[in-house]
Amino acid sequence: MAGSDAHFYRPAEGTGLPHDPFNAIVGPRPIGWISSADRHGARNLAPYSFFNGFNYHPPIIGFSSIGWKDTVANIDATGEFVWNLATRSLATQMNETAASLPAERDEFDDAGLTPVPSTVVSTPRVLESPVNFECKLTQIAQLQRADGTAVATWLVLGEVVAVHIDRALLTDGVYDTARSHPILRAGGPASYAEISPGAMFEMIRPS
Ligand SMILES: Cc1cc2nc3c(=O)[nH]c(=O)nc-3n(C[C@H](O)[C@H](O)[C@H](O)COP(=O)(O)O)c2cc1C
Repeated sequence: MAGSDAHFYRPAEGTGLPHDPFNAIVGPRPIGWISSADRHGARNLAPYSFFNGFNYHPPIIGFSSIGWKDTVANIDATGEFVWNLATRSLATQMNETAASLPAERDEFDDAGLTPVPSTVVSTPRVLESPVNFECKLTQIAQLQRADGTAVATWLVLGEVVAVHIDRALLTDGVYDTARSHPILRAGGPASYAEISPGAMFEMIRPS
């Protein structure tokens, strides 16, 4: 336990460590692999690991953009985006879509991924990804410090309005998380975790 031998620091004054441990502690994190498009339909695809689900009914997901990146600009302009599940077999391509490209460059093309039309929103989804959530923007919230000063980071929240699941991931109708081998972002500049069946365990919540 941290107790008496804890390394203690106040983030505003530095960590006192060779690498900031924040990302390694808050991890592994699921990846928001977000497709979006600008007003003219120019496609964009990028990973965001400050990502999670925040509500069941309606399902709401969100991700955080450090800086006003193309993805946020697109979603702000169109009110739509798609989340695509990043799996082990798509890891290299997911990583390629993180390259800083001019807004007009299409990460689908660069990473050799196939954009397919969505059903409800006009943003394309990634064909190769086994799960896609079509989303409508609900909020863009700029983050702030405890003293109320603004941070140049934006939390984008969206309601999931349509879901596509590869039936191979359903066992008797139950979604099998490990079967797709989802990847998660861990600490350090290059670390990831892969969820495989051996990583899972069961525990019933107390009533
Ligand atoms: C696995 C992974 C996770 C990332 N997570 C984030 C994140 O949470 N927030 C962020 O601003 N950038 C994140 N990035 C960096 C963006 O993907 C990168 O800046 C990208 O070029 C943004 O694309 P865009 O400008 O087309 O939106 C991540 C990159 C990788 C590889």
